[in-house]
Formats: sequence, C-alpha cells, structure tokens
Amino acid sequence: MRKAISNGMNFWKELEKPFLALAPMEDVTDAAFRSVIAKYSKKHGGKYVTFTEFTSADGLEFACLRAPHRQADEKGKEKLLAKFRFGENERPIVAQIFSATPEYMKNAASLAKELGFDGVDINMGCPDKSVEKQGAGAALIKNYKLAQELILAAKDGAGDLPVSVKTRVGYDSNQLSEWLPALLEVAPAAITLHARTRKELSKVPANWEYIRDAVKIRDSLGSSTLIIGNGDVRDVAHARERAKESGADGVMIGRGMFGNPWTMSDYTPSLEEKLWVLIEHTQLFEKEFKNIKSFATMRKHFSSYVEGFRGAKELRMQLMECENAAQVKEVLKSHLS
Ligand SMILES: Cc1cc2nc3c(=O)[nH]c(=O)nc-3n(C[C@H](O)[C@H](O)[C@H](O)COP(=O)(O)O)c2cc1C
Repeated sequence: MRKAISNGMNFWKELEKPFLALAPMEDVTDAAFRSVIAKYSKKHGGKYVTFTEFTSADGLEFACLRAPHRQADEKGKEKLLAKFRFGENERPIVAQIFSATPEYMKNAASLAKELGFDGVDINMGCPDKSVEKQGAGAALIKNYKLAQELILAAKDGAGDLPVSVKTRVGYDSNQLSEWLPALLEVAPAAITLHARTRKELSKVPANWEYIRDAVKIRDSLGSSTLIIGNGDVRDVAHARERAKESGADGVMIGRGMFGNPWTMSDYTPSLEEKLWVLIEHTQLFEKEFKNIKSFATMRKHFSSYVEGFRGAKELRMQLMECENAAQVKEVLKSHLS
C-alpha cells in the first residue's frame, strides 16, 4: 500500500496560509498536465494542494471494487483508475470523488486511502446534467441531509485521511446562510467555495463577497474547517490579493492554469519555454493515456499554450491537424531554436 505524505496527520493543518490549490478540471488537469505543472511550478518555488479530476464512486464500485476479475470491465476500470494516477511530486494530493450513494462514497474513499492519496474531496458543485441526474454534484446543494451523509460515509472509508468538499454558494440563489452551516455541522477538513451559484454556471464574474461572508459564517460558528475561495483567479499575486480581501485560508486556481504550467509560481515563461513544455506535455499525454484517451483531448491545450503572438493562429491551425506527439514536435520545431 502506497503511503500518504501525512502518515496519519491532517495535512490541511500543516499548510502555511494563505495556501494555493490546483482546481480539479475534468480532461484538463489529468495526470499528464498535473505532472508538468508540478515540475515547472515547483521548480520556481510554487507550493499548492493538488486535486485530481472528479471520479465517479459508482463507476469505481462497479468497474473495480465489485467486479475485479470481470473481463468486460477491464477497459472501464483502466479508464477510471487512470484518473487516480499521480506522481510523488504532486503531494499533497487529494482524490476528488462524486456520488449520491453513501456506501459507494465510503468504498471509493477507502480505495483513495489504499492508493496513497493525502485526502479525499467530494464534488458538490458540478452542474453537468449526467452528474446531477444521479443526485450528485450540484444537486446535493438541494439535499443537505444526503450531503451530510456522504461526508460522514467518506470519513468512515477514508480512515485517518481528511475529507473535504468542493461546492458552490447556492443552487438558484445564495444559500450560504443555510448550506454552509449544514456542511460545517459534519466538520469537513476544508470547503472549497466556487463563488457562483449553480444557475450562474461560469457565465457571470465570480463574486468574492460570498467568500468573505462564508469566512464570517464559519468564524461565527467556531468551526475549524478551512475555507478555500475559488473563481476567476489569474495567478499567484491575484490569489494573494483575493485571500487578503476575503480572509480565505486558501485560494484555488482553475482556468488560470490553461497554457501555463508555471502559474502556481511567480515565474513568467518565455514563448520558447512554453512551446518546449507543450512538446513535453504532449509526449507525456501520449505515454500516460495511449489507448485510454483520444489524442483530441490535447487540442484544448494547444489553443491555450499557443496564443498572444504573431502567427499564433496559423500555428494553432497546424497543431489541430496533428494526430500524435511526434507530429506536434515537428510542427513546433520550426518555431524553436
Ligand atoms: C474544463 C473544466 C473542467 C472542470 N472539472 C471539474 C471537476 O472535475 N471537479 C470540480 O470540482 N470542478 C471542476 N471544474 C470547476 C473548476 O474546478 C473551478 O471550480 C472553476 O473552473 C472556477 O475556477 P476558475 O475560475 O479558477 O477556473 C471544471 C472546470 C473546467 C473549466
């Protein structure tokens, strides 16, 4: 069994405040991208908590835990477990899970412990229809009782690993004054609050006043749960500002990472460095996910890395035609010395 960094300690308690967290982003912050982020941000002094992409506890239950030897499940199992791959340099790392079934949540949390994660996070903010239809993700903001049961079940399965929650401020409107106390009642180690409602998706600017209110509510209840603010944060300097204004213990960055694995540090890369790292990222993606993920998943990264300079549009168009890492290297080589 792989050992967590914490060795029985709650790593959240050891973090220097305000700390940074790398947002879970399905098909973006996969093991390949996270690996380049860890390499290049940490090389320049970056420190942060890593979250995996969200993973279905129900999927894990049926593809891995209940049917470990069934041939038909091999592909599904490989795909799901690929989401839980990580390198030692990514620690502290938290496995993000979604479900509406406490029993499956418990089992998935216990699998995360076995795999050596440092914590377990429950997604209670995803607006995806297929997730909400199961009663999971943002649908839990309408079901406080089940949300509490899921946290308790995860704690049960995770043993000494800390359990956290990532959610939004409300479903159709601001529900912080009821939703937050309901979560705090079962004492998760940390709550990441995306400063928007479910209804707002990502269509309006994140409202960091909500984060300040959340910190006040937490303090008024005497809770020791950490509050992590999230929404529209560009870089480390911006994160520090947001933490200061809101009083949040930590700040999570998502889309600010696109095309810039150095974002978790203060370093500003040159265009040449970015393009070399894009080659490395693409090669790593191919190595990690051959036969698991379509190479097309890399395309969103091409548009993020290659922007803001003369000829970027033409270069992006050439990259979009590529079908493997060797072709990407060939195309980019003409721009590199
Ligand atoms: C492509 C994409 C995938 C995402 N996948 C997840 C996910 O798996 N789990 C989760 O909790 N949030 C997910 N999110 C939400 C982000 O973690 C974050 O809350 C949101 O992007 C707001 O932060 P930002 O403005 O810093 O990007 C995703 C967001 C994006 C853009």
